Amino acid sequence: MTNFRTKPDHQRYTFEGFGSDKYPNLMLRGAGDLNNWPMAVYISKHEGYVAAKKALQMEPVAVTEEVKTSGIRGRGGAGFPAGLKWSFMPKDTPERKLTRYVVCNADEGEPGTFKDRAIMEYNPHQVIEGMIIAAWAMQCKMGFIYVRGEFLWLIEKLEHAIQEAKEAGFLGKDIQGTGWDFDLLVHRGAGAYICGEETALLNSLEGRRGEPRVKPPFPAVKGAFGQPTTINNVETLAAVPAILRMGGAEFAKIGRPKNTGTRVFGLSGHVKRPGLYELPLGLPLDFIMNDLAGGSSTGKKIKAVIPGGASAPVFSEKEFGTLMDFDSVRDAGSMAGSGGIIMLDEDTCMVQACLRLIRFYAHESCGQCTPCREGCNWMEMILHRIEHGQGRMEDLDLLASITPNIAGKTLCPLGDAACGPMDSMLQKFRPEFEHHITHKTCMVKGPRLLANVGGH
Ligand SMILES: Cc1cc2nc3c(=O)[nH]c(=O)nc-3n(C[C@H](O)[C@H](O)[C@H](O)COP(=O)(O)O)c2cc1C
Ligand code: SF4
Repeated sequence: MTNFRTKPDHQRYTFEGFGSDKYPNLMLRGAGDLNNWPMAVYISKHEGYVAAKKALQMEPVAVTEEVKTSGIRGRGGAGFPAGLKWSFMPKDTPERKLTRYVVCNADEGEPGTFKDRAIMEYNPHQVIEGMIIAAWAMQCKMGFIYVRGEFLWLIEKLEHAIQEAKEAGFLGKDIQGTGWDFDLLVHRGAGAYICGEETALLNSLEGRRGEPRVKPPFPAVKGAFGQPTTINNVETLAAVPAILRMGGAEFAKIGRPKNTGTRVFGLSGHVKRPGLYELPLGLPLDFIMNDLAGGSSTGKKIKAVIPGGASAPVFSEKEFGTLMDFDSVRDAGSMAGSGGIIMLDEDTCMVQACLRLIRFYAHESCGQCTPCREGCNWMEMILHRIEHGQGRMEDLDLLASITPNIAGKTLCPLGDAACGPMDSMLQKFRPEFEHHITHKTCMVKGPRLLANVGGH
């Protein structure tokens, strides 16, 4: 077997394979086993390409219907129903033959999110099979896997897996004797968070600057190279073979109504057993944190949780009973986002945590919209002086006044993403911000040195 470079920190991740009837593993099958990825293993152990063969015998529109029936919602962040998205792709007419594309979003830049890299590392064929099925359903001629630039070891593995699929007749010309041609290309990104936003991704794919486009037109109308395009997250596509194998209706029985299937949650922060957990949607957050992941790693109380990657507004203790599905997390004031659950114990300074997050958004803003470009920088500057004991009480109102001028007023959701954590931390942990200002010390970390404001 080719000796691929393995992820240097591979050993740091744990994989909770629940694999039972109660918690079926659909995406993380064989995860943790570095020999799981080749096609031979995928076929012999994981019913590999059974779903693709089944799909290729169905009418493309029936495949989309099956995915609609499953109710699966996109795992990339927004939770948009995948089958519905596929159905937006325009069909050929006698007068007009279209070139359609399918794109797998493997950029995974959201802090706290580390699931897609594991799915691709241990089950690259599952993603490829999902793309073949998606491409057949939408009658695409070409697919792209847009991979975050830093995932070099995954790119080699994906390319090898693509070659294996080609040799087995699942990619290339006249796939499985259907007369349909489909090819896949891996495209390496250049390491910008914003390139995970679907239209910035398309620009980057085309060799342009990775900046979001004005929508409409949406990618289904005018996407890659001006042609109809569907973009799905790695996990969404990896779920598709399972949906076809078990049938959409069976998949829909897992989880909760309108929040179906399993999802790969990544637990990090102050947690005893960090790692990836594939679980049905709708389990309570405190059950996941305590019963499954072992609770706090420091023995200190958990005071805050970011429930869906860095862009999700923070939960305080009273929301720890929230069911972890798209609708319940939204109703509790946050978002299920990319499935990254970050636990913060009571010794975490929320001013520092907030500054760290906002600094990320200020750095990653592409700068096209004034509210995002200027607003994120202003928030960072103000937070910086509060964190370093040089804030004023009026700064808290000033911060609160900035977010309504960003949220909903920008080209892409990155601006909103910066506002959610800022607003929620200020609202829920305001005394910590006030303490920094009035005492010039940190409420949780004691009289640590707050001076040295640096360049701000
Ligand atoms: C700033 C930003 C970064 C994003 N990064 C990613 C990413 O790394 N991976 C991803 O799948 N979606 C990401 N998204 C969401 C995508 O725009 C898009 O909604 C998603 O790829 C659609 O896939 P899904 O329908 O399967 O969820 C990001 C969105 C924004 C605004
Ligand atoms: S919201 Fe921010 S990241 Fe998104 S397009 Fe505008 S400036 Fe760029």
